[in-house]
Amino acid sequence: MKVLVATEKPFAKVAVDGIRKEIEAAGYELALLEKYTDKAQLLDAVKDANAIIIRSDIIDAEVLDAAKELKIVVRAGAGYDNVDLAAATAHNVCVMNTPGQNSNAVAELALGMMVYAVRNFYNGTSGTELMGKKLGIHAYGNVGRNVARVAKGFGMEVYAYDAFCPKEVIEKDGVKALDSAEELYKTCQVVSLHIPATAETKNSINYALLKDMPKGAMLVNTARKEVINEAELIKLMEERADFKYITDIMPAANAEFAEKFAGRYFSTPKKMGAQTAEANINAGIAAAKQIVGFLKDGCEKFRVNK
Ligand code: 3PG
Repeated sequence: MKVLVATEKPFAKVAVDGIRKEIEAAGYELALLEKYTDKAQLLDAVKDANAIIIRSDIIDAEVLDAAKELKIVVRAGAGYDNVDLAAATAHNVCVMNTPGQNSNAVAELALGMMVYAVRNFYNGTSGTELMGKKLGIHAYGNVGRNVARVAKGFGMEVYAYDAFCPKEVIEKDGVKALDSAEELYKTCQVVSLHIPATAETKNSINYALLKDMPKGAMLVNTARKEVINEAELIKLMEERADFKYITDIMPAANAEFAEKFAGRYFSTPKKMGAQTAEANINAGIAAAKQIVGFLKDGCEKFRVNK
């Protein structure tokens, strides 16, 4: 059995070593395709792979067509919007993610970006503090929960809205659960986004939702760029000079944001929420173990294309 790690954005070496150990202990072979620049390289590498570990790498029908021996794809991470689930099911390929394994890393980055922004991007001028500010967590999954934990340490007043998580679960963590996204954005000066990119959520963070945020508002995005209605966010930021947008996922209109909103817009050059050795080890090794469990025992825990 051949397991391919195909990562345009590679894991830390220590994580690859850990993955190799799991795969070789099971008697399988590990192949690596890192930092590829061309889809043709991926199409070639998947030809004889029985299993693939990916990150944000795109697995579409063309890749699945090329991967004639493929049985399973594990997205080492949370969001699997980069995998064509219907095509995978049609090709009889199991798709899994590794929920929770990189969520602390993403949460730490979200808080780090908040500090960076309220301290005026460390430009030496007087900024503000997070303590006492109302933080709204939009979607209370693994990352949202970790953001709540760290934000409480900063002394922030933490609120959350999640369409699928019962209010009692949120409130057990000492977080105030609100009834709607509208209420969350109206209440909180800082909102941290943790919704997945789905047909329902794409473009859903729009002018109507953002316009009622309190004065000095800041939107922090460590989720996906697709959930933002960029044209409407630009319109809002043109109207509101107090509004900051801080993101770990570079918008399609990055140049326009950077030019128009200097001093209140920041994007990392490449999504780096999960770029820590710890997150790479956790997610990478979990992916390797899930592949071994699936191939040896048929274990389908964490399958997402049911
Ligand atoms: C995830 O969905 O797990 C995060 O967005 C991290 O993605 P990455 O592995 O591409 O950095």
